[in-house]
Amino acid sequence: MSRFAAVEVIKQKRDGGELSPDMIRWVLEAYVAGAVAEEQMSSLLMAIFFRGMVPHELAEWTAAMIESGERLDLSGLSRPTVDKHSTGGVGDKISLILCPLVAACGAAVPQLSGRGLGHTGGTLDKMEAIAGWRAHLSNDEMRRQLEEVGVVICAAGDGLAPADRKLYALRDVTATVESIPLISSSIMSKKIAEGTASLVLDVKTGRGAFMSDEGKARELAATMVALGNANGVRTTALLTNMDVPLGIAVGNGLEVLESIDVLRGGGPSDIREETLALAREMVALAGIDIDVEKKLDDGSAFEVWCQMVAAQGGDPGAALRVAPLIQTVTAERDGVITSLDSLSIGISAWRLGAGRARKEDPVSDAAGLKVLVREGDHVSVGQPLFELHADDDAHLQFGRAALETAIELDGEVRATRPLIIDRIV
Ligand code: URA
Repeated sequence: MSRFAAVEVIKQKRDGGELSPDMIRWVLEAYVAGAVAEEQMSSLLMAIFFRGMVPHELAEWTAAMIESGERLDLSGLSRPTVDKHSTGGVGDKISLILCPLVAACGAAVPQLSGRGLGHTGGTLDKMEAIAGWRAHLSNDEMRRQLEEVGVVICAAGDGLAPADRKLYALRDVTATVESIPLISSSIMSKKIAEGTASLVLDVKTGRGAFMSDEGKARELAATMVALGNANGVRTTALLTNMDVPLGIAVGNGLEVLESIDVLRGGGPSDIREETLALAREMVALAGIDIDVEKKLDDGSAFEVWCQMVAAQGGDPGAALRVAPLIQTVTAERDGVITSLDSLSIGISAWRLGAGRARKEDPVSDAAGLKVLVREGDHVSVGQPLFELHADDDAHLQFGRAALETAIELDGEVRATRPLIIDRIV
């Protein structure tokens, strides 16, 4: 392969040019090997942030990221594989219900998940609220569980897209996260390397989403759908609303309990609606013709959940830890809730102890909050608005302070967007 100087590659992008396939392969390989310095990659990332990438450049960049590690082969399974990825939201516990549901419909769901960072939660942190549950499985264990149970939720192994791990850590500290080519190549390289045949993306937009602007979220969804399909993974996306939190519970163990309610046929209607919409997309991509709602209501999905938890060392019947401090926040006056801000609520859960500021930080399994009201509700003075759960008083006060901007009383009731805003194929 031809050799380049890193400065030459940086200049090319800085001046608005396209990176050639050879340049892309070389710079990513050399960066992973330590031959391109962190400051050089930082400059290149900033140049990509401002200049963007054309579609074939992005396809090459993504392919090079996939090739930096292993690509799992799940083609030998007896069931069709289909996975889901969410760009992250507040109270987003959908994977916990959706993955067993889709497995109950006959697909195999290899859900390789991450941990939460900032105000949005991570699926692994939620599952780890179940004592004994193991996030780390070998590739063989993962394959066996997919064959026997039909679903696995686990941590992505170190061998999967190692270029992304290094690049993501660098983007985090160089203000280069919010770039559509960099986000889409990061997410899609991991999903393509995991070996799923089909993929449904839940791209969230609104106040609590990573892409709050709807136009940008649409562009991200379309870019990722194109990347998936170009790499042989049948991919579609739903654009969903994250202006208000999903469901009532926000926080790891609290979200597990709410997910179990939905798996048992109850729970909040928005969680149920979004889960069913994503499940319909997933089974359609997997080529399975089935009534997904029936599989949720007849207990099949809950049975698969119990099998999945047990297969990974957890006891599906065990009670979860309850936080020692529980405090209710009440309305200070009568009024109509005109705004319920998911970003403030996500920040509150994080400060109560449910999230982390740095990836090394621990999270509390029991901390978080319940959102007891919705936009448009009339509330009276003294009526409970939030129920806060924390392990100590410092976290409780910190989390409570973040809620000061969470609710607006009176003013104009906003026109609400639907939960499922659009389907992008
Ligand atoms: N999640 C990822 O995996 N990568 C990004 O760049 C952003 C969100």
